[in-house]
Amino acid sequence: LDNGLALTPPMGWLTWQRFRCNTDCKKDPDNCISENLIKRQADCMVSEGYLGVGYEYITIDDCWLAKERDNNSRLQPDPDRFPSGIKHLAQYVHSKGLKFGIYEDFGSKTCAGFPGSEYYMQTDAQTFADWEIDLLKFDGCNSDIKDAKYGYPAMAKYLNKTGRDILYSCEWPFYNWRDNVKSNFTEVRSTCNMWRVFSDIQDSWTSLTSVIEYFVKNNHQFQPFSGPGGWNDPDMLLLGNFGLSYDQERVQMAMWSMFASPLIMSVDLCNMRQLSKALLQNKYLIAINQDKAGVQGKLKVVKGTVYDIQIWTRPILPQGCYAVAILNLKSGGGPKMVETTFKELDMNYTTKYNITETFDNEYIGTFGLDEKLIFWVNPSGVYMFTAIPATSDDDDSLKFKPWR
Ligand code: GLA
Repeated sequence: LDNGLALTPPMGWLTWQRFRCNTDCKKDPDNCISENLIKRQADCMVSEGYLGVGYEYITIDDCWLAKERDNNSRLQPDPDRFPSGIKHLAQYVHSKGLKFGIYEDFGSKTCAGFPGSEYYMQTDAQTFADWEIDLLKFDGCNSDIKDAKYGYPAMAKYLNKTGRDILYSCEWPFYNWRDNVKSNFTEVRSTCNMWRVFSDIQDSWTSLTSVIEYFVKNNHQFQPFSGPGGWNDPDMLLLGNFGLSYDQERVQMAMWSMFASPLIMSVDLCNMRQLSKALLQNKYLIAINQDKAGVQGKLKVVKGTVYDIQIWTRPILPQGCYAVAILNLKSGGGPKMVETTFKELDMNYTTKYNITETFDNEYIGTFGLDEKLIFWVNPSGVYMFTAIPATSDDDDSLKFKPWR
């Protein structure tokens, strides 16, 4: 969507994956969807250094609403869990230097059964603007898929009419896919700033690999549509939760960077393992994710079966540079040796590249197009590097430098 927002993939935090529809503040006061949770996470987003590396949106997903609209048909939050109201909460989040997002649904009800925007889209867009909201995640439960192509653009129009800058996050292509409707990504891109392409992610390696598999099979349909202003969204980051090993967390961070995906965490920012936090804040990965050209990566080479070894490449700035991720999706055994050449990866912008390992920003060396490149990749793990055109042998002055 050409509204001046999301010029690089949006970065932030969302309640859903970790905190779901927990509304029981009596039994679980620390984890229920409430203004206390949002304020605490906003505090930690800043104090724990996430804002400093680029994460800026704090977004409440489903389950913030009261059961009914108010007497003027306006949306209202649950009075027990949001006693100070949403505008107050948005202002609190803004006071921390962050942006504030909220969730609604264009159908009759949200997925969790709270009042939807059907028949009230214009009123709701105005309510969100009055509340000083900076992002709207717009879901599609409890609606007819045939209405999606009217509903999503209608809300885009009403948001635009408010005159406030509101980043528009849609689930449109996901619902199309679910209901066997082919997505028109030209329309999606001109309507939304980011759009979910696939099912809800869950906190497991099985779920993460199902998303990657979906990209293996369908990337050609939506890869060309990602770029400044609009991004394919494979859903939230799982890092720091319970379901992934350290190597598997590296895989998600690497692939979301290759995919130029929004980096939306969903985790308790105040209680995080150091290793996960370091990955979420890895400035070299974030720099690749946030590359200003915004070209989404492609699968180049497969070794063994598709779900065994995959090599993805992504052109990044300055011109002629690449990020490369070598994925080993097989579990079990030890690290696997993977051999390739720049030629095999169709990287022929120059005759020699300097390679820098991404996670630790470790300079590896200079290699010609036919020279054998050998990497060891952990089981359910990834090896990632950047390649920069070399001017002379072992010229590490050209070592990849993140712009952040
Ligand atoms: C759907 C969406 C999720 C989340 C829930 C909330 O399942 O895909 O991302 O917003 O609804 O109920």
